[in-house]
Order: sequence, then structure tokens, then C-alpha cells
Amino acid sequence: MSKKGYLLAVLGVLVLVAGVLILGACTGAQGTQGPQGERGPQGERGLQGSPGTTPSQAELKALIAEVLRGTPSTVAAIARGGRLYDNWVEETKATAPASNQPLWALQTTNARTGIDTWRCKECHGWDYKGKGGAYSKGSHYTGFVGVYDAGTSKSQEQLLGILKGATNARHDFSQVLDEQSLNELAAFLSQGLINETAYIDYATKKPIGGTATNGAQLYSGVCAACHGADGKQINFGSAEEPEYVGTVAADNPWEFLNKVRYGQPGTTMPSGLVSGWNLQNVMDVLAYAQTLSQ
Ligand code: HEC
Ligand code: HEC
Repeated sequence: MSKKGYLLAVLGVLVLVAGVLILGACTGAQGTQGPQGERGPQGERGLQGSPGTTPSQAELKALIAEVLRGTPSTVAAIARGGRLYDNWVEETKATAPASNQPLWALQTTNARTGIDTWRCKECHGWDYKGKGGAYSKGSHYTGFVGVYDAGTSKSQEQLLGILKGATNARHDFSQVLDEQSLNELAAFLSQGLINETAYIDYATKKPIGGTATNGAQLYSGVCAACHGADGKQINFGSAEEPEYVGTVAADNPWEFLNKVRYGQPGTTMPSGLVSGWNLQNVMDVLAYAQTLSQ
């Protein structure tokens, strides 16, 4: 083939590929939406534009954002990502590294050591806002950033890279977590985070817009089997300092939300997300659980 002919052939292939990509993107636009709109009020996903019309600027932007976010993951994958974020050692039954996480040395305010220093939540917070959220003060303060901004602005691919140390070698978790777990974490960050400032009053720790009477029904239908009708069947603390489901709900509503939405790592406690609960259901259970024994 002549040089010119070869160039033309390459060009033709490129045009074809671009065509397929655009077609694929258009199908995506009218197609799958995220798992149950799990971003709450911010959760508008996908495009409702009628096929065949020229997309507006706004529609194009939404389309690009959707493509960046990647294929919607299954709720099971997102929920496992949420449990790994809570405590990946418990969830994977791995042996905890003996040393502190290498980034831990960058701070001096949080005195914990060992396994705690490896938990995503210890550095980035139960509310995903790190130093900008509930861990802005107190013994858990580290001064580290949250993951909410990155989760809602970076692509799933970029988030996966961050977990493999692409932006900071000391943030490489690929030696301790397998590829599937890393992908589930990236899916959780990309598709599972909510802006908790909209749901929890940080001063009073009360839920914003939860209805305890609805929560009571959900609690007795699901949670009471394990935690007891009064919430005292499982004690997570000690005999001297008991900690019940009501204690966590009142003291740390952000932790409660993560655990109820995604499940308790390494146990059979069900994930609300997987059971098809929407955020309102979870807020209702939180409002009710705050009325239980503490
Ligand atoms: C020991 C503390 C620590 C632990 C544990 C930790 N991180 Fe980080 N993380 C950081 C720090 C510090 C940064 C900022 C790093 C930098 O400057 O590159 C960061 C950055 C990030 C970012 C990017 C934030 C941004 O705005 O760019 C994401 C996403 C993230 N971490 C997710 C996770 C996940 C998921 C886990 C659990 C597997 C985790 N991190 C565990 C300390 C930690
Ligand atoms: C199949 C049994 C089961 C069901 C159903 C269940 N849980 Fe749990 N839950 C557990 C177990 C087991 C633990 C871990 C106990 C421990 O660590 O000692 C736990 C832990 C928790 C914790 C946090 C404990 C901690 O580490 O601080 C909260 C909060 C919680 N459950 C709330 C709920 C709520 C609310 C429901 C209903 C939506 C629910 N659970 C349903 C079994 C269950």
C-alpha cells in the first residue's frame, strides 16, 4: 500500500472508532441510570433527552460526566466498597500489617497505632470529609483531606489509580488489597458517597428529615432480629462500658449511616443499599435508633 493509501486507511479506522464511541455514548445516555439514584437529592443521573434531537450544552456536559464516572457498578460491589472503607482488614479477613500506614507519620494529632491507621475512615472520616467534617476536631483529627470532593469529581479510573499509589507512593494499597477490592472501593467512592452535611445536623447530631415512626417499622422488620427490639441484644462495647445500636446512632450518626447503608464488615449484617432501601429509609431508621437505649 502507498504511504498515502495507508494514511487514508488509518484515518478511516479512526473515524469508525469515533463513530462507535459516539453511538455507544448515546446509547448510554438514554440507558442505564446509577443504582437507585443513590446520591440522594444530588443524584440526578443520566439524560432524559428524547432520541434524535441535538443535545444541549448541559446535556453534553452531563453525558461527559456520566462517561467519566464509568459503568454503573452493582449495588453489591458498591456496598462491599463501603465496608472495605470502614475496615478492610475485617472485611477481607486479611492479616493486619504490623506497622503503621506510611502516611500516618505525616501527622501527630491522632495517637492511634497499628490497624486503625490503615482504615480509610480513620484518615478520611465516616462522613467522607476528613478534616472538613466530623473529624475536624477531637482525638480522630489528622488534618488529612476527605474523599467526598475527589469521589464526586474524579473518574473511577483516576480513583483506582489513587488507591494504587499513582499520585502518592505512600498511598499504595495494592500490596494489601486485591484488584477486585480496589475496584469496589473505587466504585464506592465514585457512586456511593453522599453529602452528609445535608442529612445530619453537625451541632446536634440529629438527622435532618428522618421520621422515627417509619423507622420503628423498618427497625422491627430488619434490625430487631439481631439487635433486639430494645437494641440491647448485641453489646459492641464492654460490660463496664456497653455500646449498643442506640449508642452509635446517638454518638456517631455518620458511622451509623455507613454501617446501615453498606453493612458491618466481616459479618452477615445486611446492607440497606443491597436490600433496596433508599436514603429516606435509612434516615428514618437513624431517627428511631436514636430513641433506643444508649
Ligand atoms: C494513613 C492515612 C490514610 C489512609 C489509611 C488512607 N488515606 Fe487516602 N489519603 C490520605 C492522604 C494524606 C491523602 C492526600 C495524599 C496526597 O497528598 O497525595 C489521601 C488521598 C486520598 C484520595 C484523593 C483525595 C483528593 O482530594 O485528591 C482518595 C480518593 C483516598 N485518599 C481514598 C482512600 C481510601 C479509599 C482509603 C482506604 C483504602 C484511603 N484513602 C486510606 C491518607 C490516607
Ligand atoms: C443478621 C444480624 C444483623 C442484622 C439483621 C443487623 N445487624 Fe447490625 N450488627 C450485627 C453484628 C453481628 C454487628 C457487629 C457486632 C460487633 O462488632 O460486636 C452489628 C453491628 C452494628 C452496628 C455498629 C457496631 C459498631 O461497630 O459500632 C450498628 C450501628 C448496627 N449494627 C446497626 C444495625 C441496624 C440499624 C440494623 C437494621 C437496619 C442492623 N444493624 C441489622 C448484626 C446484624
